[in-house]
Amino acid sequence: MYILFLNVVILVLMIPGLMASVIFNHRSSSSFHLKKMDTLFSFGDSYTTEYLDLPTMTYPDFNNVSSTNGANWIHYFTEAEHLKNWDLAYNSAPIENSLVHQNSNIISVSRQITELFPRYFLQNDTKYCKDKTLYSIWVGINDIGLLVNNQTTSLTSLMHRYRQLISYLYHHDAKNIVLINIPPIDKSPKWAPHDTASRIHDLVKEYNRKLYKMAKSIAKQHRHIRVFFIDAWSIFNHMLNHPDMYGFKNVTGYCPDWRHPEEHGCLPIENYFWVNDLHATTKVHFHFASEVRRFLSEA
Ligand SMILES: *[C@@H]1O[C@H](CO)[C@@H](O)[C@H](O)[C@H]1NC(C)=O
Ligand SMILES: *[C@@H]1O[C@H](CO)[C@@H](O)[C@H](O)[C@H]1NC(C)=O
Ligand SMILES: *[C@@H]1O[C@H](CO)[C@@H](O)[C@H](O)[C@H]1NC(C)=O
Ligand SMILES: *[C@@H]1O[C@H](CO)[C@@H](O)[C@H](O)[C@H]1NC(C)=O
Repeated sequence: MYILFLNVVILVLMIPGLMASVIFNHRSSSSFHLKKMDTLFSFGDSYTTEYLDLPTMTYPDFNNVSSTNGANWIHYFTEAEHLKNWDLAYNSAPIENSLVHQNSNIISVSRQITELFPRYFLQNDTKYCKDKTLYSIWVGINDIGLLVNNQTTSLTSLMHRYRQLISYLYHHDAKNIVLINIPPIDKSPKWAPHDTASRIHDLVKEYNRKLYKMAKSIAKQHRHIRVFFIDAWSIFNHMLNHPDMYGFKNVTGYCPDWRHPEEHGCLPIENYFWVNDLHATTKVHFHFASEVRRFLSEA
């Protein structure tokens, strides 16, 4: 379904039962073909990191080091699409440490984009074709987690900084930007059992609403940008609400040690949605990556 408003074309891909991932771009821009892309730069937090070792530019084995029980969505996505994978995401990263009083040794998305990206790629001979490069940002879980206990800033200020980071990428030739909203962390074992769950729910909904507006607005502002808004909130909720469709038997708890389920009276890990209190299993990452691929390939 195409909706035309002002000078922006919006393509809404209706996945039954899902809200909507959306593309915002100028009518004048050329068409997009996922198959023509050859590189992905990704920024974010533990949901995205693959623990890139910058001095050697290599990734450790995900069976040894991962925030899930194996590969994450970036691995599934870049392998399936044969993309060169530069993953600068970092555990516990918010948009900007100072805004939410995150520990300063965490490499925020702000630093990933404005320090690491230029240092390791722009000011360096790393070859990538800008027309064939995708950029993804998935951030907000840590911002909300920090804000729920200590309202050090407003969501509006967070979005303002987020927007600057997208503009930074745009001014360094990024044309195809994937923005991913916050999944339903209010249903995670970390938050669901507590009184704060409804406050988390409201904060996430409001953050996602502001991100959507910002994505639309930035596409209107910049002529040559294409913004893919991925609705992780709905994609995760679809899995949580239809566990049988995906083969999950447990979408509320997690096994204390997924490598030794029998010792803890747990089912094998494939049956779980959550690998720990705030992170999803590799199976969730696989399905999420499939949705991202489906959306971008039909774009
Ligand atoms: C993963 O960990 C195992 C056990 O510690 C080790 O033998 C192996 O070399 C590690 N793999 C990589 C790629 O680091
Ligand atoms: C670019 O950065 C990488 C990572 O630090 C390094 O291995 C490579 O030698 C650099 N290339 C140039 C041309 O400086
Ligand atoms: C909120 O964060 C500020 C800045 O780090 C700190 O001074 C204050 O004590 C915090 N308040 C609570 C209730 O944690
Ligand atoms: C989910 O798994 C955890 C860990 O095995 C267990 O404690 C919990 O009771 C399970 N929940 C359901 C609804 O089966």
